[in-house]
Amino acid sequence: MKIESCNFMAYRDAYKSIEWTIEQRKQKSLVSRWRKLLVNLNMRHWMLSALFIICFLFLNDAHAQIRCEDLFKEIPRPATATITEKVAKNSFITDRTLWDYTHDLHPDFTKALERMTPESHWIDMGAGKAKALIEFMKSRDSEARPYTTAVAFKIDRWFGMPNFEGKLQTHEGIFEHQPTHQWRKADVITDVMGVFSYTTDLGTTLQKNFDLLKVNGELYISTSAYGSQFRVNGETLSLEVFLASIPGLKVEGKWGTIKITKEQENIKIPVLELERYKDESPPIRLFKVHLD
Ligand SMILES: C[S@@+](CC[C@H](N)C(=O)[O-])C[C@H]1O[C@@H](n2cnc3c(N)ncnc32)[C@H](O)[C@@H]1O
Repeated sequence: MKIESCNFMAYRDAYKSIEWTIEQRKQKSLVSRWRKLLVNLNMRHWMLSALFIICFLFLNDAHAQIRCEDLFKEIPRPATATITEKVAKNSFITDRTLWDYTHDLHPDFTKALERMTPESHWIDMGAGKAKALIEFMKSRDSEARPYTTAVAFKIDRWFGMPNFEGKLQTHEGIFEHQPTHQWRKADVITDVMGVFSYTTDLGTTLQKNFDLLKVNGELYISTSAYGSQFRVNGETLSLEVFLASIPGLKVEGKWGTIKITKEQENIKIPVLELERYKDESPPIRLFKVHLD
């Protein structure tokens, strides 16, 4: 009896130990499954993170490339001059005064104004509100007033333009398309951040201005330092250096205060092809020079 009960206990213990082992194994396999799962999840997490970072870098790079492209928007050479939104909407300064002109332009401009007789002619290229021209006309007695011309895509004035008994002409629209051969020849031409700074067709603008200017006439330009660049035989030139290379032009000063004297008839401007254009105030443009 004693032996039987002893055997029974031994069986029960053995059974329990087997049960325990099975349970242990089950638990172990569950733990290992969970561990595996966690490892897998971790791996996935890392892989997903890496993928996300790669995508982010790639998209960011693509975006950066797009922005770089935007910086220098490629504009095919326009068949004719075009007007940007800024010019169409007058989204820039348009009310510089005569004082501003005399301080911004080359110092000789003041002397050029003083020399003006009633037969002289001053053209302001890109006149905005034509404040400088109007102030100048008001500063003179009517019989001492010279001829003046305001050029602007759209004259930016609420109350219309005075004309000083026909001595102040106004030409609105795209300058490059104007019949300038019919205009009175000029003694002085000014351009303060005007057509020269904004045009997409600088070749035509320059040619028309030098055709309008009398021999010994003076052209005063105030523009930005990097707004006009010229590519000639692999070299990049500034506006003043490019202009100085054209026979018949005497160039003094630089970008903000350029003075050009026309020393002979028939100035020939080479064909300028607009290669790059960034729409700023004023725009940054790169022109390829086509030498004959
Ligand atoms: C920044 S505003 C300067 C206005 C003025 N010079 C001043 O300093 O207050 C530029 C002027 O150039 C004119 N403009 C620019 N491109 C032109 C174009 N292609 N033809 C005619 N006018 C143009 C605009 O209409 C505007 O009057």
